[in-house]
Amino acid sequence: MTDQTSEKSSTGTGAAEAPAPTPKERHLAALAGTEGLDRLERCPLMPTYGPPFVQFIRGEGPYLWDAHDKRYLDFLSGLAVTSLGHAHPAVAAAVAAQASRLLHVSNLFATEHNGEVALAIDRIIGDGSPAGGQSFFCNSGAEANEAAIKLARRHGGPGRHVVVCAFQSFHGRTLATLAATGQPQKWDAFQPLPEGFRHVVWDDLDELEKSLDDTVAAVLLEPIQGEGGVNPATTEYFQGVEALCRERGILFMVDEVQTGLGRTGRWFGFQHFGVSPDVVTMAKALGNGMPVGACWAKAEVAASFSPGDHATTYGGQPLATAAARAVLETMVAIDAPGLAAAAGDRLTDAVLALPQVSDVRGLGLLLAVELGAGDVPLDAPAVAADCLAAGLVINGVTPTALRLAPPLIIDDSHIAEAIAHLQTVLRDHEDRASA
Ligand SMILES: Cc1ncc(COP(=O)(O)O)c(C=O)c1O
Repeated sequence: MTDQTSEKSSTGTGAAEAPAPTPKERHLAALAGTEGLDRLERCPLMPTYGPPFVQFIRGEGPYLWDAHDKRYLDFLSGLAVTSLGHAHPAVAAAVAAQASRLLHVSNLFATEHNGEVALAIDRIIGDGSPAGGQSFFCNSGAEANEAAIKLARRHGGPGRHVVVCAFQSFHGRTLATLAATGQPQKWDAFQPLPEGFRHVVWDDLDELEKSLDDTVAAVLLEPIQGEGGVNPATTEYFQGVEALCRERGILFMVDEVQTGLGRTGRWFGFQHFGVSPDVVTMAKALGNGMPVGACWAKAEVAASFSPGDHATTYGGQPLATAAARAVLETMVAIDAPGLAAAAGDRLTDAVLALPQVSDVRGLGLLLAVELGAGDVPLDAPAVAADCLAAGLVINGVTPTALRLAPPLIIDDSHIAEAIAHLQTVLRDHEDRASA
């Protein structure tokens, strides 16, 4: 998915010297002679991801353990997935019980949990009261967005099929969601992409307004662009987009795959901006690691779909929805958004106190840490790789910014531990960069 790995070294050396080891080389050297990763690298896996740094074997709360029983503090959460922490007892029990009762039947039949999960989603979209919408269940974020795109085309009708998205956005890797993704460098190898997507400058209302003609069925935006660098929208922008959509009869669709379910300090990112989107997509944290996604739409919009218009074999099946039900019940019981808001403030303050940090952006526990106070540039992917070697899982979301997306259940001791790792690694990089 994202480029979490970097082969680049931050420590350039003179021509005569041997090149300094990359962070990955240093880490692999530490593992030399041990079984696991080298064996895995010989397995017939397609090279869609860079070679792995670590093989994780088990997890508990905010911690992971590798094949050599080394412990890591997970401040990435599988990219905003394990918001309740690893091996959460309620989720594990729900999955185990369901696995021994009924794994799967077709969507031709009713099953036990999907109605309850749809009700729970509708309530949190309404911030505690029913929002009056319906859900379609699927297996991933890309599929949730595919459902939204098809719904927009069905709702728009013939000649009204264009979906307007923002540059730097990320909406998935299927052909249609790649076409929606506003990162042209990701398109080239896969042309021709499905047509019907238009991209505008992020957070620029005039640009967006200019793009809205009679062919536009929907606008699809993230409240915070996650993969694009953790770029939050502004209230003025989201409210302006909503007003334009209402004026022109265009659907306002929000991709909450990364931001949804408490991560930003509200149930959904759009709730920070006082808007009421027609369609909301989610996945990642919904199953806390079980693959499950959902496309929610206001009932009058969802009514554009008829039986046979859209389907997926596994969508809403009992194992996935048993997990989602346990996740949502737990999140409501512990007030997950409240935890994220409070921990996010404390983490932001602690990170901002590091001298090598120039800025922190984001909301709640979806944060980008901009590196490079002073004149010394720091390479974020290389810093992330060294943090991993030190026992802290984060990633470089841009060449100069780290992404922090810890589980929402972290406490002050976890924040202190992460800061101690960051402090050591950043000092080391600063020393090497200025040497
Ligand atoms: C905002 C957003 N939308 C969609 C996706 C795609 O989700 P998935 O990888 O589950 O298909 C992602 C994944 O990172 C995302 O961040």
